[in-house]
Amino acid sequence: MNFLECMKLRYTTKKYDSGVKLDTEKIQEIEKILHLSPSSLNSQPWKFTIVSDQKIKEALAPFSFHNKEKVEDCSHLIVFSMLDNIELFEKQMAEYLPEYAVTYYNIHIKPLGIAYTKNWMDQQVHIALGVLLSACATMNIDTTPMGGIEPEKYDEILETSNDYKTLFAVALGKRSGEDRNQPSITPKKRLPIEKVISKK
Ligand SMILES: Cc1cc2nc3c(=O)[nH]c(=O)nc-3n(C[C@H](O)[C@H](O)[C@H](O)COP(=O)(O)O)c2cc1C
Repeated sequence: MNFLECMKLRYTTKKYDSGVKLDTEKIQEIEKILHLSPSSLNSQPWKFTIVSDQKIKEALAPFSFHNKEKVEDCSHLIVFSMLDNIELFEKQMAEYLPEYAVTYYNIHIKPLGIAYTKNWMDQQVHIALGVLLSACATMNIDTTPMGGIEPEKYDEILETSNDYKTLFAVALGKRSGEDRNQPSITPKKRLPIEKVISKK
């Protein structure tokens, strides 16, 4: 199936078949795909926590608003965190990145302030979200991106180091046949293509 067809068929899953668990091989492939996500300057200000333990999913579920059932019933939950310590981030850059990247950061990002820099780092983590959703679309894995969670509670339960903070999570698994959001029942909705694609 080509990528366009995969994108037509992927959708935000609202109900999972709790009896279906993803193969270890697929999860290992996902780990490698996340690891290869692109980021500005190759800065990689992220951590991905892959939760398969049912007890941990059940502990996180009450802090997931309308996503509670998805967190309980999905096969795996991936929690996306951002490196939230600028000092450590700069150390990581200095250790792993070429000098031109560090120089660009020092001239064009850092002087704009901590809030700007952290927002820029947050954007990089969202790129990995797009990569994951697209990859899963080609791997016959159903997904739910979830901004509707309580990040501080997630940090507490996952015992995240203070240097990182949860931004959002993605549920992965197999849809329930009863999920009314699947495109065969509820067609995908988007703005008119002419409104969002401009040609010059
Ligand atoms: C960053 C982000 C956060 C989202 N948060 C939630 C969420 O908490 N719960 C949910 O059911 N869907 C969530 N969505 C799914 C969007 O509502 C969905 O992608 C959009 O309506 C398009 O529908 P589709 O994914 O089925 O094509 C989120 C999507 C993104 C990209």
